[in-house]
Amino acid sequence: MSLRLAVMVSGSGSNLQALIDARRAGDLDARIVAVICDQPGAQAIGRALAARIPTICLPLRKGADRAQWAALVADLIEPFRPDLVLMAGWMRIMPANFVERFTPDLLNQHPALLPETDADTYVTGDGREIPAIRGSHAVRDALRLGVPVTGCTIHRVTPLVDVGPVLARREVAVAPGDTEATLHERIKAAERPMVIDVINQLAAQAAQGRPVNVDHAR
Ligand code: GRF
Repeated sequence: MSLRLAVMVSGSGSNLQALIDARRAGDLDARIVAVICDQPGAQAIGRALAARIPTICLPLRKGADRAQWAALVADLIEPFRPDLVLMAGWMRIMPANFVERFTPDLLNQHPALLPETDADTYVTGDGREIPAIRGSHAVRDALRLGVPVTGCTIHRVTPLVDVGPVLARREVAVAPGDTEATLHERIKAAERPMVIDVINQLAAQAAQGRPVNVDHAR
C-alpha cells in the first residue's frame, strides 16, 4: 500500500530530497502529499516546490502562543489525510496538543542514538555505554562529550522531547578530526537510506493490514 506522507522540515531538506528521489526512482512506497516548513527561505522549500509538492510555510512568530500555532499547523496538515507525518529535520519542539493529533503516526529523525526509553544512556552494538544525546545540538554535543560512536534514530514522537518507541537506528563512528559539519554529513548519509527503509516497511505492514510497527534495527 502506498502511504500518504507529510514531511515537516526546517532546513536544508536533504532527507526530503532523498525521499523525493526515491519516489521518482520507484523505490519509495509512499507519496509525499505535503511539505510543511517553519522557516521562510529554507532550502527544503525550494526542493519541495521543484518536485511540485504542495508546500506550506508557517513560521512561529516571536511572542506567539506556541500551542495555538501548533494547532494551526495540525489544521493545515490534516486535510492532506497523511498516513504518516515525518519530522525530517523539523527543528521546533511541538507541544502535546500537536503530538496527540497524529499519534502514533508521527515520526522524528534525530541525529544521535536514542534508547528505547527515556534512559540517559545508550548501549552500542558492541556493548559500549554512551550518553543518550537529545536536543537540537546533538551532533555538536557528541563531539563535545567525546563519544566514540554516535548515529541516528527514527522514533515515534511522544510529548517528551526525543523520547519514543524506536523504529530504526544506525551507528556512525566519530573520526579523529571530525567537525560538526563532517560528522553531521556522515550521519545524514546514514539517515537517508534508513528513512526510506522505515517508510517502506511501514507501507508493507499497512498493506498486510498489520499494525504499523517496524522491527528495531541497528
Ligand atoms: C537530520 O540530521 C535530522 O536528523 C535532524 O536534522 C537533520 C536534517 O537534515 N533532525 P536535512 O535538512 O534533511 O538535510
